[in-house]
Amino acid sequence: MTDMNGKVAMLTGAARGIGAAAAQSFVQRGASVVICDVLADDARATVEALKAAGGKADFVLTDVSDPDSVKAAVEHTVSTFGRLDYALNNAGIFQAAPLAELEVEDWQRVVNVNLSGVFYCLKFQLQHMLEAGSGAIVNTASVWSYAASGGQTAYVATKHGVVGLTKNAALDHGGSGVRINAIAPGPIETPMTAGVPEEVMAKIIGRTSSNRYGQPEEVARAATWLCSEEASYVNGSVLSVDGGWLAS
Ligand SMILES: NC(=O)c1ccc[n+]([C@@H]2O[C@H](COP(=O)([O-])OP(=O)(O)OC[C@H]3O[C@@H](n4cnc5c(N)ncnc54)[C@H](O)[C@@H]3O)[C@@H](O)[C@H]2O)c1
Repeated sequence: MTDMNGKVAMLTGAARGIGAAAAQSFVQRGASVVICDVLADDARATVEALKAAGGKADFVLTDVSDPDSVKAAVEHTVSTFGRLDYALNNAGIFQAAPLAELEVEDWQRVVNVNLSGVFYCLKFQLQHMLEAGSGAIVNTASVWSYAASGGQTAYVATKHGVVGLTKNAALDHGGSGVRINAIAPGPIETPMTAGVPEEVMAKIIGRTSSNRYGQPEEVARAATWLCSEEASYVNGSVLSVDGGWLAS
């Protein structure tokens, strides 16, 4: 597929996991990509792999919890590749603790990355896209945007928030030629879930009708589809990619 030839995507949290798979999917459709992440070594390895496969890719060290860093990442993308057509706001972290035991610093850390980070991205990406009169943004939500999960207070709260941010951004800017949607992955096999106890993951996977882990590529294809012209009338939506978790 070459429908994204000449287009440019910036992806946060794309050094590894779902974001790295999405970077590959954008490149396969012809787009150039900029990977924005705090993990420099992993990000550079991902960029090298994309280039080795014939893609155009770059990395900019970015902490999404810092608005200046996000602003600089957007400017780096535009100055490197000349434009910004698509964004996947995907950086996320996880902190397990029941509410009463959750440290204030940990709450703030998760909120700053998972929720404020998405806001900063939307704000600075939109400044370019609104001027251009076109663009498509996808934010990474979760099945935990719909339900509570024991010991995941901050994560669940932020993922609910990502859906609210997505819908409001689409409402505010729906007539501008820019579309803003979210994906809600179920249990996906990535470094993030590798850190979760096996019995906990088994319970989550058991709720999917597919009864298996999803793979990062399966989420990546949904994210790039949402950015593509094939999704031209999809705006303010949340697309579940969860093997049937939400349906059960
Ligand atoms: N894996 C799953 O089962 C699952 C399910 C639902 C939603 N998600 C969401 O998908 C997204 C990607 O998760 P993943 O499973 O690929 O996890 P992952 O841990 O493999 O990847 C997350 C990436 O985000 C980056 N990141 C973390 N903090 C950052 C910051 N401050 N600034 C920039 N980058 C930062 C990490 O370095 C990493 O590259 C996250 O938002 C996560 O919440 C994952």
